[in-house]
Amino acid sequence: MVVWSDFERATIKGIFNKINPDVVGPAALARCLVVYPWTQRYFESFGDLSSAQAIKSNAKVANHGKVVMLGLDKAVKNMDNIKQAYTDLSILHSEKLRVDPDNFRLLADCLTVVVAAQMGTSFTADVQAAFQKFLQVVVSALGRQYY
Ligand code: HEM
Repeated sequence: MVVWSDFERATIKGIFNKINPDVVGPAALARCLVVYPWTQRYFESFGDLSSAQAIKSNAKVANHGKVVMLGLDKAVKNMDNIKQAYTDLSILHSEKLRVDPDNFRLLADCLTVVVAAQMGTSFTADVQAAFQKFLQVVVSALGRQYY
């Protein structure tokens, strides 16, 4: 089981209270698709991903970025139980979507960059450490049902 300090719990909840998921989610997913073009292979049904501009103005990408944030919200609400809370999501990404689990970390890193840019100077080293620990637990939980 993951042990969270009071600081880490407060920091994670604070970040999610502060950021706008409808901005962060779309920006992070778009960034991932631009910086790591091979991740586009999973989103062929989303239409035009032919350029950075097309990705950024793609409504399906934006909408899915918000969906990812809802997934993260579930982790925030189940910080002591992320592995179990993510069982179905992990099975979906593994068995139905067949997403290579290495990609989870790529999206997590894009989320970190976008959140850091939004938070500015309040994104301190300690805040970064707490946020990345949280994302690491999410990435690990998403990869749990792979075999
Ligand atoms: C932080 C990591 C991630 C989280 C929290 C997350 C969360 C989610 C959620 C909540 C859904 C909707 C599930 C449902 O409909 O029941 C979803 C669907 C999906 N995810 Fe992820 N995901 C993550 C990473 C990724 C990555 C890295 C990829 C591929 C590179 C990916 C590809 C997909 C695809 C293709 C769908 C289905 C989209 C659709 O057709 O609507 N996910 N994800």
